[in-house]
Amino acid sequence: MVLKNTDIKGADGKLGILIPGLGAVSTTFIAGVHLIRKGLRKPIGSLTQMGKLRVGKGDAAKDIDINKFVPLASLENLEFGGWDIFEDNVYEAVKKAQVLSNEDAEAVKGDLEKIKPWKGVFDKRFVKKLDGKWVKDGETLWDKAQKVKEDILKFKEEKKLDRMVMVWCGSTEIFQEVTPGVHDTLENFEKGLKENHEKIAPSMIYAYAALDLGIPYANGAPNLCNDIPALWELAEKNRVPMCGKDFKTGQTLMKTILAPGLKARMLGVNGWFSTNILGNRDGEVLDDPESFKSKEVSKLSVLDQIFQPDRYPDLYKDYYHKVRINYYPPRGDNKEGWDNIDIAGWLGYPMQIKIDFLCRDSILAAPIVLDLALFLDLAQRASLSGNQEWLSFYWKSPMTLPGEHAEHDLFVQLMRLKNTLRWFMNEPPVTYLGSETYN
Ligand SMILES: NC(=O)c1ccc[n+]([C@@H]2O[C@H](COP(=O)([O-])OP(=O)(O)OC[C@H]3O[C@@H](n4cnc5c(N)ncnc54)[C@H](O)[C@@H]3O)[C@@H](O)[C@H]2O)c1
Repeated sequence: MVLKNTDIKGADGKLGILIPGLGAVSTTFIAGVHLIRKGLRKPIGSLTQMGKLRVGKGDAAKDIDINKFVPLASLENLEFGGWDIFEDNVYEAVKKAQVLSNEDAEAVKGDLEKIKPWKGVFDKRFVKKLDGKWVKDGETLWDKAQKVKEDILKFKEEKKLDRMVMVWCGSTEIFQEVTPGVHDTLENFEKGLKENHEKIAPSMIYAYAALDLGIPYANGAPNLCNDIPALWELAEKNRVPMCGKDFKTGQTLMKTILAPGLKARMLGVNGWFSTNILGNRDGEVLDDPESFKSKEVSKLSVLDQIFQPDRYPDLYKDYYHKVRINYYPPRGDNKEGWDNIDIAGWLGYPMQIKIDFLCRDSILAAPIVLDLALFLDLAQRASLSGNQEWLSFYWKSPMTLPGEHAEHDLFVQLMRLKNTLRWFMNEPPVTYLGSETYN
């Protein structure tokens, strides 16, 4: 199918960004957009705001700003709404998260105070370390899903929105696998909502509400959420784009930058040990082994796909990969991640690489929330639906169709993303063949 740019609906009017979980990541994102709108800060880390894309060949090639190449919602046209299980408004949540300086928080205080969370859908069985009181009641999960939809529709009317997207920025829920009889078909899932099925997590209820209203959905956490056949079915039925899981920041970002480089040079790896200390609420939640399991599975998956040990046994067979996360309150959101990588060179001689990344988790995640919201909205205006694999660039654990392998190499992911944008605009893909570079 060849898509002409005239087939993509314009990005005029207001875009509402709906966020379950007004914690460190999402409030850093919202405050950041307000600071950028006021001209006080730059949108560093955001591909939609800072990225360029090459179009044309030889001397005629041009680097065009991505947000001028494809029609994206402008920052001025964004409105924010969200849910949490604590009652703090976004200004209060920014102060608690301690990611941004007081100066930055005060500069946008008026804008942030206006954003108050709607009551969350919560079940402590899925996030054992939290105990919020700002929660919805309702006899069944179905009733709660209806209340989420009411919040959304009211917000749409109040803010006079043209379109909406939803990005889950709530806490990591416990590890779950697809459970037949409830997660497998839409019919079973809806029955499960009405019967309060114990395997339906709160995040699934938000995803259900969004997809049922035709709103694109992204899952920023590693838990199962929208990655179940029932919600894939709903996304296809309503022709809605969606994606996930787990924002690719910090240590995993570094892994997917470094590992393709080692592989490109055919350097072997005997072991990769990763450990982190962090002290924010996310760290506290991940201190629970069942929530950590969701994160661990997500973090472990990346290296196998990049190294392909079965195809390169001399380089990567039986390499040892371990990931640890330790909750250490003094660090707050300023995580420290150490990696020790035991590599092998010519004739098998061993070498070591040490990485000590003093990163800021939410500073790395906030621009991802922005890009995902804008690209999912674009996908919807371009009539795409279901899983958006071209957005795997943003995920630690990209969702794939059953039986397919996720792509983890950041550079392959970026090429795929940019070539998809070219495809949207009816431009040929860039393959980096000499004939494209020279006249
Ligand atoms: N910061 C990063 O770099 C990064 C990277 C990848 C993934 N993530 C994931 O993003 C999510 C958010 O991270 P964070 O650092 O902002 O965490 P956080 O703990 O600061 O914020 C999460 C918020 O979600 C709320 N919440 C929990 N359950 C909820 C529910 N059912 N409904 C509504 N609100 C709910 C919590 O009260 C909290 O305010 C986490 O799942 C985290 O694992 C973060």
